[in-house]
Amino acid sequence: MNLRGILPFAHDTLRKVVRPGDYVIDATCGNGHDTLLLADLVGINGHVLGFDIQQQAINATKTRLENAGVTPQVELVCASHAFIPKYATKPVRAAIFNLGYLPGGDKEITTTADSTLESLGHLMRLLEVGGVIILVIYHGHPAGKLEKDAVVTFCEAIPQQNFHVLSYNFINQKNDAPFVIVIEKRKPRQS
Ligand SMILES: C[S@@+](CC[C@H](N)C(=O)[O-])C[C@H]1O[C@@H](n2cnc3c(N)ncnc32)[C@H](O)[C@@H]1O
Repeated sequence: MNLRGILPFAHDTLRKVVRPGDYVIDATCGNGHDTLLLADLVGINGHVLGFDIQQQAINATKTRLENAGVTPQVELVCASHAFIPKYATKPVRAAIFNLGYLPGGDKEITTTADSTLESLGHLMRLLEVGGVIILVIYHGHPAGKLEKDAVVTFCEAIPQQNFHVLSYNFINQKNDAPFVIVIEKRKPRQS
């Protein structure tokens, strides 16, 4: 396939936007794949703030980062991403959410619409102009359907003068195919 898949598209977008020294957030660390990419992109002078509500996920992420030798630029927090304002100390260049449950973990522990929307609201305020929020949306599980509907409704109502909002999805794929939403903050118009 020449078209980029869902995750490669999300990662390509991070590679285009994130620069060495940037301040970025992984809102759902899980097993740490996105956290590691972010740590590589920001480098030793940047900062990755990573959240997960499960200690198991934080531990898995920590091990992945240690093996890659990139722990100095990463701060891991075992708490909900709804608490982003309590921990974020700088404007955010990029944030990524990988919604759903921990691969290999308890499928009953999933991201939920309430905390996802709350943290999206915080991040939209903290985001730098030109910065992006990426949501990789898995919705094959029951909580995922509710969350997907809530996120899509929220994103469709974001004012277009302030943000570009893109949906990247394969519209002929069956079985609740995952998709990506990217929210990019626009430069304010001069009045
Ligand atoms: C699909 S997994 C993330 C996968 C991860 N990006 C990776 O690279 O492996 C979703 C994760 O979100 C976490 N999670 C659920 N609710 C959360 C919340 N309110 N705040 C932060 N993390 C949450 C789950 O514990 C789970 O580990």
